[in-house]
Amino acid sequence: MIKRKFGWTDVQLPIIGQGTWLIEDNSGGGGQYRRNDTQLAVKALQLGLELGMTHIDTAEMYGNGRAEELVGEAIAGRRTEVFLVSKVLPSNASYEGTIKSCRQSLKRLKTDYLDLYLLHWPSGSHSIGETMRAMEKLVSEGLVRYIGVSNFGVEELKEAEKAMRNERIACNQVLHHLGYRGIENSILPYCAKQEIAVVGYSPFGHNGSLFSSSSQGNNKRRMLEEIARRHGKTPRQVVLNFLTSVHPANIFTIPKTSNPNHVRENSESVGWDLARDEIASINEAFPVPDHDGPLEMI
Ligand SMILES: NC(=O)c1ccc[n+]([C@@H]2O[C@H](COP(=O)([O-])OP(=O)(O)OC[C@H]3O[C@@H](n4cnc5c(N)ncnc54)[C@H](OP(=O)(O)O)[C@@H]3O)[C@@H](O)[C@H]2O)c1
Repeated sequence: MIKRKFGWTDVQLPIIGQGTWLIEDNSGGGGQYRRNDTQLAVKALQLGLELGMTHIDTAEMYGNGRAEELVGEAIAGRRTEVFLVSKVLPSNASYEGTIKSCRQSLKRLKTDYLDLYLLHWPSGSHSIGETMRAMEKLVSEGLVRYIGVSNFGVEELKEAEKAMRNERIACNQVLHHLGYRGIENSILPYCAKQEIAVVGYSPFGHNGSLFSSSSQGNNKRRMLEEIARRHGKTPRQVVLNFLTSVHPANIFTIPKTSNPNHVRENSESVGWDLARDEIASINEAFPVPDHDGPLEMI
């Protein structure tokens, strides 16, 4: 698995990581799984680790903490291999609340530190200064290595940066898939300038319609299939490769899967190059909008 420098930190992180939203309940995944077949999710995460996808993203929100418990099972005995990320809910992000949430996450994850702790999205109820003071306290106590945010626009990022006293923002985790490339407008360039790592989430559009059976006759889908065929890859591998090459120095992605075959497929998305004309075709079919908001959901 190819790695790149994680923003300004000294950490070399795999370009493809592992998401965990809904790993505790795969019943929505097209009926392939038995409800609460959680051991499959644990095994999939472990296989992902073996294949080098050591960046694991979770949150106190996911399954009300259940996803963190499953991640804790998956990483038991191999904590040092993992770059472990969790998130505090904005409604919990007061000074005391952030510290309490972090301690609870650590307990569920059965570890004594997080590599990265994110504010899940900007909080309407607590000031960014209050949350960041708590984050810095967590770093000073050794419970968190790096501080980050998620779903922050450029102005919100600037406020968060201003609120820091001793630490720096290491990461902004944001929505990024072929139908949602708005971050490439101003968020990605701003983060590159500030050496803030960008982690793109929902690379397949969560339940992206591009990959549903109804889109099989779709021209865009056919174009991705044709590119994939040329490389002996799948359309999803083309998508992950493309998304992580739009800004080669600064972007990572975290697909979620609880299916071991999909884990393998996702891990083989990088380490090979799309041709220039293939990149141009994808850019033409899925252009970057001239604003930060959505273009179309896939
Ligand atoms: N910060 C935030 O606000 C935020 C928001 C959303 C997500 N996230 C993070 O980003 C992660 C990824 O986003 P996401 O879960 O929304 O969606 P996603 O990764 O875009 O898509 C997940 C879906 O794709 C399927 N899938 C994955 N790999 C596949 C493959 N190779 N072949 C076929 N199907 C495949 C999964 O099903 P199977 O399990 O059946 O493979 C699942 O249904 C989340 O899990 C979470 O950790 C963060």
